[in-house]
Amino acid sequence: MSGLLLVLGRNGQLARALAEAGPAGFGRVVCAGRAQANLSVPGAAARLIQQLAPRAVINAAAWTAVDAAETEEEAAWRINAEAAGEAAHAARRIGARFIQVSTDYVFGGDDREGPFAEGAEPAPVNAYGRTKLAGEKRVLQAHPEAAVVRTSAVFSGRGADFPSAMWRLAAERDAIDVVDDQLTGPTPAADLADAVLALAGQRDAAGVFHACGEPHVSWARFAEAALAVSAAAGGPDAGIRPVSSAAFPRPAARPADSRLGGRRLTDATGLRPPDWRKGLAAAFETWRRTR
Ligand SMILES: NC(=O)c1ccc[n+]([C@@H]2O[C@H](COP(=O)([O-])OP(=O)(O)OC[C@H]3O[C@@H](n4cnc5c(N)ncnc54)[C@H](OP(=O)(O)O)[C@@H]3O)[C@@H](O)[C@H]2O)c1
Repeated sequence: MSGLLLVLGRNGQLARALAEAGPAGFGRVVCAGRAQANLSVPGAAARLIQQLAPRAVINAAAWTAVDAAETEEEAAWRINAEAAGEAAHAARRIGARFIQVSTDYVFGGDDREGPFAEGAEPAPVNAYGRTKLAGEKRVLQAHPEAAVVRTSAVFSGRGADFPSAMWRLAAERDAIDVVDDQLTGPTPAADLADAVLALAGQRDAAGVFHACGEPHVSWARFAEAALAVSAAAGGPDAGIRPVSSAAFPRPAARPADSRLGGRRLTDATGLRPPDWRKGLAAAFETWRRTR
């Protein structure tokens, strides 16, 4: 398969992992940052897509500041909902494949327990989840052959990911409070990139897919695993004090259980959920090298 693969996003975790993965069967890959397409500006992504005429577009750009979205929902909506829909529409007009990346935070707003299959009814608990769910709907409405890839707790050792926060805090403190009553499936950015690229190369894989790591864990267990890896490599170490969400109030509510399940990704691509624990050592080396 030749042709251009256009990635919306350049400095984010997934965008970087996609750049590192290379063109994956496409002729070349271009990762477009804000300078090329600022998603806050109506029409910017659509213009770039029209200009570059890619064979496939992966939208790896998003408003990901979960707490800030509570007070800036309109700005988050613009990027996560409107711009995603506009980009999907532009891709459809030129016959390009479109992959939208979404989140487990579309779930959790009811008392149901995960893991949630692809067809489960979403119920977001916060503004970020609402904007991402609106993005999913707009993308699939504008481009019915598009793929929406939901993922969770992405990490890479870069930026604001959870293990990096634990390593930074462990360098400053003896103990860290981490919630133990919220469950997730941590996902190495490199594995997410593999899943997204596999779907980008398959024109007939439409609709919602779930791509996240296993085993599912609480954030406290995730933190313990991250610190075990850094301690073993001579890096920061600290005790983890499991606490309840009630003891750790934040501006945005978090889902108690947003674990993703389902088999559509495996059925379509043969890829199985990665064991996220295998991605921690590489993430720690990245964090140590780049902090
Ligand atoms: N991180 C997670 O734990 C997580 C969990 C579930 C789902 N997801 C989803 O996975 C996808 C990738 O997340 P990530 O972890 O790679 O996110 P990230 O590291 O926060 O990166 C977000 C990307 O979006 C870009 N962006 C933000 N505002 C923009 C704008 N106005 N115009 C153009 N680009 C803009 C950023 O560009 P700059 O570099 O210029 O800021 C950055 O490249 C997103 O759809 C996210 O919702 C992430």
